[in-house]
Amino acid sequence: MDRGGGSGDDQAMLFDLTKLKPEDQYKLLASTVVPRPIAWVVTLNPEGRLNAAPFSFFNVFGAGPPILCLGIGARRPGDPKDTGENIRLTGEFVVNLVAHENAEAMNVTAIEFGPEVDELAEARLTTLPSEKIRPPRIAESPVAMECTLHSMIEFGPDRALVIGQVQAMHVRDDAVLNPERCHIDTPKLDLIGRMHGGGWYARTTERFDMPRIPVGNWPRD
Ligand SMILES: Cc1cc2nc3c(=O)[nH]c(=O)nc-3n(C[C@H](O)[C@H](O)[C@H](O)COP(=O)(O)O)c2cc1C
Repeated sequence: MDRGGGSGDDQAMLFDLTKLKPEDQYKLLASTVVPRPIAWVVTLNPEGRLNAAPFSFFNVFGAGPPILCLGIGARRPGDPKDTGENIRLTGEFVVNLVAHENAEAMNVTAIEFGPEVDELAEARLTTLPSEKIRPPRIAESPVAMECTLHSMIEFGPDRALVIGQVQAMHVRDDAVLNPERCHIDTPKLDLIGRMHGGGWYARTTERFDMPRIPVGNWPRD
């Protein structure tokens, strides 16, 4: 079946995103590309006012240099989100990751308060200083990445891609297996991901192990 043109005769419905409204493009992308990790971003505005919000259009894009990206929209057309403005103006932000025990507090920081409200105080969260940048990290989060702005790509006035470079990471002590070798106990972090609809999330408690196959072992019996 098709929606929006095309000649698909297979069992997959074709959605032509060039013909869909942004709200419908969002529904298709956000309900299929799952689970998405959540960047819980802390910034300061140029006057030093604290701001925090979650972003699930987020991932890391490699090391050397260590790069991550955030996709930031607008509250309403022409009304940019504080996080994007603060990053643009100050060039610094902390990406905290979200454990299952942080879920409700994270959700409070997503409330669309005005710039005068400190979301961290509303969510009864505490902060710890960063080493290399001015915005602090969230003490209750198991992983915090201190980032500087590498570049920002603006797709019109209401959508920006923030490209950040990770300068330092803080990982909760009990989840560090071997600091010299940078080995982390990932399951211990108990991180969550964003799923579909308004409020579905996934835990990372269901896993399976599948070692890579060296080319010399292929074909195998
Ligand atoms: C789990 C979760 C993920 C979110 N991901 C995004 C996102 O990727 N991009 C975005 O623009 N807004 C996202 N939002 C909405 C923002 O967090 C929300 O608009 C917030 O109020 C922005 O705050 P700010 O104006 O202080 O930056 C998300 C909300 C939640 C709960």
